[in-house]
Amino acid sequence: MQTLSALYPAHLDTLQARTRQALEREGIDGLVIHSGQAKRLFLDDNDYPFKVNPHFKAWLPVIDNPNCWLIVNGVDKPTLIFYRPKDFWHKVPPEPSAFWAEHFNIVLLAQADAVEKHLPYDKARYAYIGEYLEVARALGFDLVNPDRVLHYLHYHRAYKTDYELACMREANRLAVAGHRAAAEAFEQGLSEFDINLAYARATRLNNNEVPYGSIVALNENAAILHYMQHEAVAPQTSRSFLIDAGAQFHGYAADITRTYCRDEHPFADLIQSMHGVTLSLIEQLKPGVDYGDIHVDAHRQIANLLSEYGIVNLSGEDTLAEGIVKTFFPHGIGHFLGLQVHDVAGHVADDRGTPKPPPADHPFLRTTRQVEAGQVFTIEPGLYFIDSLLADLKGTEQSRFINWDVIDSFRPYGGIRIEDNIVVHRDRNENMTRDLGLN
Ligand code: GLY
Ligand code: MN
Ligand code: MN
Repeated sequence: MQTLSALYPAHLDTLQARTRQALEREGIDGLVIHSGQAKRLFLDDNDYPFKVNPHFKAWLPVIDNPNCWLIVNGVDKPTLIFYRPKDFWHKVPPEPSAFWAEHFNIVLLAQADAVEKHLPYDKARYAYIGEYLEVARALGFDLVNPDRVLHYLHYHRAYKTDYELACMREANRLAVAGHRAAAEAFEQGLSEFDINLAYARATRLNNNEVPYGSIVALNENAAILHYMQHEAVAPQTSRSFLIDAGAQFHGYAADITRTYCRDEHPFADLIQSMHGVTLSLIEQLKPGVDYGDIHVDAHRQIANLLSEYGIVNLSGEDTLAEGIVKTFFPHGIGHFLGLQVHDVAGHVADDRGTPKPPPADHPFLRTTRQVEAGQVFTIEPGLYFIDSLLADLKGTEQSRFINWDVIDSFRPYGGIRIEDNIVVHRDRNENMTRDLGLN
């Protein structure tokens, strides 16, 4: 494998070329990209954890330093204004010396509010890209996050550079180490809290460093799609375990889900069947395919499982036709993955941002774009026993098709999601997750 430093120059060339195009469309000379700034809690003197502007970390792996700025025009060597305050309260980052540093003109900034003298004088020819609109106005920018620029950059961000793919493989490697440790902790009967600790220990990432709050759910909690608690006390019996947990490397995310069962119960077989669904959907992910069609096929396959496991007393075909599947699979089949865990520009038809919204009957589908080489997706079908949705189903005509006693035997296990991270190449798929041996 080529080293990151060898891959990085071509990554920068790609960003420079995209920047030139975006600037030409907007008719301006450059972008001033703000890393962000500390955000204070209401009536407090503590800050929220710092989350860097994704447009900033696209250029370089500095993800923990507020008050930094990039000045880029797509032609000249980019300027990095790097914040290094005199501060005895906090750790001050060292002067940049990593592989990326030589590719920037670096200016050290000791005081956040002294940045103006380092920024371009004629602000009318530059756009501010960042979150802090009042800062942009105070500095004299009229053009703030212009739509045309953002649409262009977001759309093209779906095509990953080789450097980005290397970072995402590494993020997967970290996450897989965590998943292995978590599965072992589940086998030992540990609590959600302790399983999460095992995950953190293996990934070397704390709760603020993972790209999204880890879902670590035992038993019935596995039916809560975004379960964010980490129960400190272990349940009397740990039957099932759903973990949706990622990692990040140099600002790029992994997003992996696995489900396990310790009982001999059809739920254990259902997990294996759902692995089969994930793998078969990944087979369908190829250039030219509509990502939405994969979501539709997931519905078909899950309908078949509902029939096969006697959950629904109909054929798979009729289960699908009756609209029963969404009770058990109420979310989208996956999404773009990259600098953000749900990476941007899933709902546009082109780089002008022409909307391509999800169909009315699949509102949670996060990507409606055609699949192309160079894109990275998750594929994450799920099958859950969610009390509130099941109660709704009970009140419908379709209730008579449901084997409610079978449902009741599944409820204590919560639900299943199996999620892999896939790079689509021209001639093959790369399953970054399973390539590491996590099945
Ligand atoms: N971890 C959030 C998701 O799977 O999309
Ligand atoms: Mn996930
Ligand atoms: Mn996901």
